[in-house]
Formats: sequence, C-alpha cells, structure tokens
Amino acid sequence: ARKIIIDTDPGQDDAVAILLALASPEDMEVLGITCVAGNVPLDLTSKNARIICELAGRSDVKVFAGCDRPLGRDLVTAEHVHGKTGLDGPDLPDPVMPLQDGHAVDFIIDQLREYAPGTITLCPLGPLTNIATALQKAPDIANRIAKIVLMGGGYFEGGNITPAAEFNIYVDPQAADIVFKCGAPIVVMPLDVTHKALVTKPRNDAFRNIGTPVGNAVAEMTDFFERFDKEKYGSAGAPLHDPCVTAYLINPDLFTGRHINVEIETQSELTMGMTVADWWHVTDRPANATFMGDIDADGFFALLTDRLARL
Ligand code: BDR
Ligand code: CA
Repeated sequence: ARKIIIDTDPGQDDAVAILLALASPEDMEVLGITCVAGNVPLDLTSKNARIICELAGRSDVKVFAGCDRPLGRDLVTAEHVHGKTGLDGPDLPDPVMPLQDGHAVDFIIDQLREYAPGTITLCPLGPLTNIATALQKAPDIANRIAKIVLMGGGYFEGGNITPAAEFNIYVDPQAADIVFKCGAPIVVMPLDVTHKALVTKPRNDAFRNIGTPVGNAVAEMTDFFERFDKEKYGSAGAPLHDPCVTAYLINPDLFTGRHINVEIETQSELTMGMTVADWWHVTDRPANATFMGDIDADGFFALLTDRLARL
C-alpha cells in the first residue's frame, strides 16, 4: 500500500474521502491527517477530522493542526455549504482522541525526509496553505514527493466561489501557485470531474442501506450538503468533490484527463484563484499537472459504497 498524508478541511466531502482511505488499507496507509483552515476555521477542521477517525473506529490515526490562515489573504470560509460546524448533518459525538503535538507543516516535512524519495503521496483536499508552507520551509522535500493528488480548480466548468475560481484554490491562490510550480507530479480533480460525482437519491439510499453508523452518517452528511447545490444550481445531488482524490488512489482508471500546463491566477481580483488549464496545448508552457476531465460516476459510487461498508 502506498503511504499517504491527507491534508484537509473537513467538510462533509472531506470526511467521506477520509473514510474511503481508512476503509482501503490494501491501497493506502494513512501516515497522518493534517488539517488546514478552509471550509471552517482550523479549530473546527482539526476537530472534525478526529470525529471522523473515531467514527471509523480509528482513534490511532495521527491528526495534526496546521495553518490557520492563507499565506497572504484573509480566510474565506464556506459555512453556507457545510453548515456552522463544517460537518452539519449527522449527530456525531465530540472526539476523545487528542490532536498530536507539533505543527502539521513539520509533520509533512519530517515524514517526507524520513521515508525514501518517491514513497509518500500527498492528498490535499482543502486550501493548499500547509503544503505550500512546507515547500517554502523545506524546498528539499519537493523531490521526495511521490505525487500530489489534489481536489481543486475547474476550467470548462467555471468556478463555485466566484465565476472563475473553485473554493480551495481561491482561498489561497498564492499557496496553490507555489504547489503547481514545485515540480512534483500533480494530479488534479477539478470541478469538471467532481460536479459529475453527484449523490443522487438512489446513491444516497445505497449509503443508508449499508446499515452501519458509517453508512448512516455518510447518508446524513450528503443529505445536508446536497441542500446547497440543489437549491443553488438545481443539481441532482451533492457533489462528492474530495472522495475523487482517494478513489483515484484505488482505481485511477475511473478518471480520464490530460497532462497539461496549469497556471494559477494570483493577481487579478476578477479571476483570482482561477486554474488556467492549457487543455488544448495552445501555449508551449511545460506540462506540470494531469488535469482530469471526466469520471466513471457509477463505477466511483459502486467502489465508494462497497468500501464504506467495510467500516
Ligand atoms: C472544495 O471546497 C470545499 O468546500 C470542499 O470540501 C471541496 O474540497 C470544492 O470546491
Ligand atoms: Ca475540502
């Protein structure tokens, strides 16, 4: 199993991504979960990550708190999507397991230095502040990262927080710019993909029909989170953005995309945080990311439901 670090801002969809990882030990070993401010402030994301580990019966997982604000901008949060706690929907107990001592950024650096180069895959599911800070503090780690598989951006689909930008990239465009320029192999799950991973009624029923606390919690989380996309976009259900990252590590064939150049807009207020993806190779800028464009959504939900049933 490949070793991974999940960098996250839970968030109901982050929670499902974490559950999928913890349900899949043959595919990935979770070295730790590093939390960042994003959907809600850091105190809540680092609490929510522990709530989810305990829901999965995994109070042994190391959870770290990281950066509490973007590199150069004020924090923008998304309670309008995820609710006040960031994990609204199910009624889950407060965590008993402690946060680890030490900063998430130092954990990321130490783990990358401890294991052989090419061992650790980073899975960012929120703003890229922790990852960029680690790269700034320890530039030597860039060469040691096996791969960065992240949720963020959108191109043909447009944005979800501004017309041009997706939330994770918009919150900390400067961090995203550092990450996209770092030289490590990058796989991007943009809105173009995640807006096709919709929890329709039958898919939500399938979670509930698992009949376990995890199945029920996932059904309740996706019920809650669905409200927003349904009302606002008339979408058929909640988009499961972040689980696309962990599903990719299990079965990359569920996704198709192109290896292209992706640049981050960090200057213009109008298009701040836009992922400018050279899908048609109209420039000679070097490719720096595999930007996904499509998903086998039925295959994705079958895999997800099957794995969640193990917990
Ligand atoms: C991303 O933003 C957050 O609200 C979700 O958790 C996901 O990571 C989607 O734009
Ligand atoms: Ca997220």
